[in-house]
Amino acid sequence: MGKVRAAADPAEPVRPAGGPAAGYTFRAAAEWAEFGAVIDLAYGGHPHSPAHSAVVGALFEPKRSLVACYGGRPCATLAGYALEMTLPGGPVPVAGIGYVAVAPPHRRRGLMRELLRRALTALHEERAEPVMVLHSTEPGIYGRFGFGVASQAVEVSVPPEARAFSADVDTAGLVMDVGSPEDAGAVVADIYRACLPQRPGLLRRDAAWQRRAVEDEPEGRHGAGRLLCMVVSGPGGEARGYALYRLRPAWERSRPRYALSVREVFARDPAAYAFVWRSLLDTDLAGTVSAAARPVDDPLLALLDDPRSAAPTVRDQLYARAVDLDRALSARTYSAPVDVVLEVRDAMCPWNTGRWRLAADAYGKAACVRTRAAADLVLSARDIGAVLLGGGSLVQLAHAGRVTELRPGALSAASTAFRHDPAPFCPMSF
Ligand SMILES: CC(C)(COP(=O)(O)OP(=O)(O)OC[C@H]1O[C@@H](n2cnc3c(N)ncnc32)[C@H](O)[C@@H]1OP(=O)(O)O)[C@@H](O)C(=O)NCCC(=O)NCCS
Repeated sequence: MGKVRAAADPAEPVRPAGGPAAGYTFRAAAEWAEFGAVIDLAYGGHPHSPAHSAVVGALFEPKRSLVACYGGRPCATLAGYALEMTLPGGPVPVAGIGYVAVAPPHRRRGLMRELLRRALTALHEERAEPVMVLHSTEPGIYGRFGFGVASQAVEVSVPPEARAFSADVDTAGLVMDVGSPEDAGAVVADIYRACLPQRPGLLRRDAAWQRRAVEDEPEGRHGAGRLLCMVVSGPGGEARGYALYRLRPAWERSRPRYALSVREVFARDPAAYAFVWRSLLDTDLAGTVSAAARPVDDPLLALLDDPRSAAPTVRDQLYARAVDLDRALSARTYSAPVDVVLEVRDAMCPWNTGRWRLAADAYGKAACVRTRAAADLVLSARDIGAVLLGGGSLVQLAHAGRVTELRPGALSAASTAFRHDPAPFCPMSF
């Protein structure tokens, strides 16, 4: 048996130390269509449908997106997005990346690393967004590049026998209506906008991102019906909450046990929130009511009398890293005053390596500057990423041996200051 060699690879490229293999060129993307062939191959021969391509293509920002070429043809991609995301303290510009994909013959030659290095270096040199965020297909990929798990999501499945809940709120006069997300578009946008500043991780949505949020291509339904929108309104007719969900028909011994899956729920107040969930759980024909991703501190878990039966399962969700440590750490607010010297290791963005003094006042406002003072905590860029949005815990990371405390008391103070209530959550994929 001879050695298996990639067809597109006439001569095994030589990978110089620290860089990608020889023979590759890198440039800004020209148009969304360039990504199609690479993504199709990278994700196992599932080309985007024209409808889905139109939705994600409308979000495409060619100047921020990169391709690697071999023999003049794109073989690796990285899409960049200028986003605005709520951090502790309010909305901040962040750089999103997605569609990091390398065609199979060109893998493990350093192309992903080089695309990321270029994207991060450009943001640093242009003093653009101070934070980079992404959703990862696999959890093992991005830690080495200084990304930490910045938010977690919890999956819940409420079986019919565990639908009871206790809401000590006044839902009198609330009514619900069900229609299409398109018809409820303005209501969805308004309620989402009202909720946006409250939870780190939420993304501002313009019309194109809103379209992505309510996208409902038939290929994505997997046997379920079309996406529905439930709107809850108050006695005066004012819309106060909504849910996006769908039903997949299923029968058990001649009884309807439709699977109701919830994509999104937002509400202006606790009564509307409880009413939306009560209405979802009371849906006729429904068996199990599930949601693949909810915040880890979702009020639903406090409303259910038997949250154990909902089998909450936590997983990593958004990954974040500081592009420039000083700008990233001063872009957010802190939950308690803190004055701490961080010694940071950052191989991917070496300009962040060194000692930084982070000082936050009683209002949560912070400054972060280089210092020669002795370090209080030693940690990596990945650990900073894990606490950047107010989730994660420096104490937990220290107990895992990833953060080292050099001044007694510094760990607890910094951990408290970084934490944020409510927990970060990013339901929008990109
Ligand atoms: C994941 C993917 C982008 C990696 O691209 P690549 O060019 O082969 O990656 P690189 O050669 O730059 O690898 C850089 C490092 O990441 C590691 N790595 C690459 N893919 C990995 C994976 N799937 N899981 C864990 N580690 C991975 C490499 O081993 C290498 O580690 P090292 O620096 O310690 O030696 C590519 O395999 C791919 O397109 N996969 C399918 C699409 C996908 O999952 N994309 C990720 C979207 S978030």
